[in-house]
Amino acid sequence: MLYADLVRPLLFRLDPERAHDLVMAGTARLARLPLLCKLVHALARPKPTPVKALGLTFPNPVGLAGGMDKNARAPFAWWAFGFGFVELGTVTPKPQPGNDRPRMFRLPAEEAVVNRMGFNNDGAEAVAGRLAEQAKRGLRPPFPVGMSVGKNKDTPAERTADDYATAAAVLAPHSDFVTVNVSSPNTPGLRSLQTPEWLTKLVTVVRAASGAKPVLVKVAPELDGADLDAALDAVMAAGAAGVIGTNTLGCLAPNGEPAGKSGRPLRDISPRRVEAIRRRVGPAACVIGCGGIDDVYSARRMLDAGADLIQIYTGLVYRGPFLPAVITRGLSK
Ligand SMILES: Cc1cc2nc3c(=O)[nH]c(=O)nc-3n(C[C@H](O)[C@H](O)[C@H](O)COP(=O)(O)O)c2cc1C
Repeated sequence: MLYADLVRPLLFRLDPERAHDLVMAGTARLARLPLLCKLVHALARPKPTPVKALGLTFPNPVGLAGGMDKNARAPFAWWAFGFGFVELGTVTPKPQPGNDRPRMFRLPAEEAVVNRMGFNNDGAEAVAGRLAEQAKRGLRPPFPVGMSVGKNKDTPAERTADDYATAAAVLAPHSDFVTVNVSSPNTPGLRSLQTPEWLTKLVTVVRAASGAKPVLVKVAPELDGADLDAALDAVMAAGAAGVIGTNTLGCLAPNGEPAGKSGRPLRDISPRRVEAIRRRVGPAACVIGCGGIDDVYSARRMLDAGADLIQIYTGLVYRGPFLPAVITRGLSK
């Protein structure tokens, strides 16, 4: 109520990326204050509903999706709001600024967000350093922390696998699992890495670079039917521990450039992909459902479709930071 009536109207008067930067700055500040994080966690009252997956224990199945905290600035704060895990990144080997602004847009009538960020991030070394510093200072949250890796925009196609391996090698020691992002529509050519040949190569090199850490692959909602089955077969044969479905829907930004749409428009598509993924990968693999989750109903639907865990990004924009805690309570009823 407080968020919808007071905070959201104020944030929505700002440019979307400026609002995001403000929220991230506040969240990062909170993450440096462990006592306050514990207080916020107590107020949020997430319902403990442990899930065992990827050889890890998740305090609840509701996670933060990739792209919100690209630079690992606030993992402890995400725990405070009631999340059961977080996926940080996507991080590339070298730092890069991403696309020119404006590159984030709200579509309030659709309860959606359109973005063409282009993997803006601080680079693998800086992010690894931040995670090491947090661990040293007791600011590592008591839940699994995943890391999404990708390629730099200016890396030539033939060096693609090196980029994924480099980012994974630097970041896996600080993470509980690693995800291979081949499904962002905002980096030229990235989605063409969803062929069986590329997926076999990428999962193989990222696994080798990640030690014993589980590796997952995140797929696009457009990947469907026989193409999805072939991709999943390759991913699982190469030893991936699971799959995340889905990333954003490909669309055009107001300036006509390729972008991705998230939120409500994914509400029907993503659970259908999750159902297809679960059917193909079998019961042993971990399936994470993502896309259009913004209430207990959509969360339940994703779990019923076969997801072990779920993730949220755009729902936070429209429903506020305590959405994960609300969902955990609703799911347990
Ligand atoms: C602004 C923005 C940036 C994103 N950046 C990433 C990213 O870096 N890596 C990634 O795997 N997904 C990224 N995503 C996709 C989300 O993780 C998620 O898959 C997608 O938004 C669908 O979930 P939602 O409907 O809950 O937002 C981004 C989404 C948004 C809105």
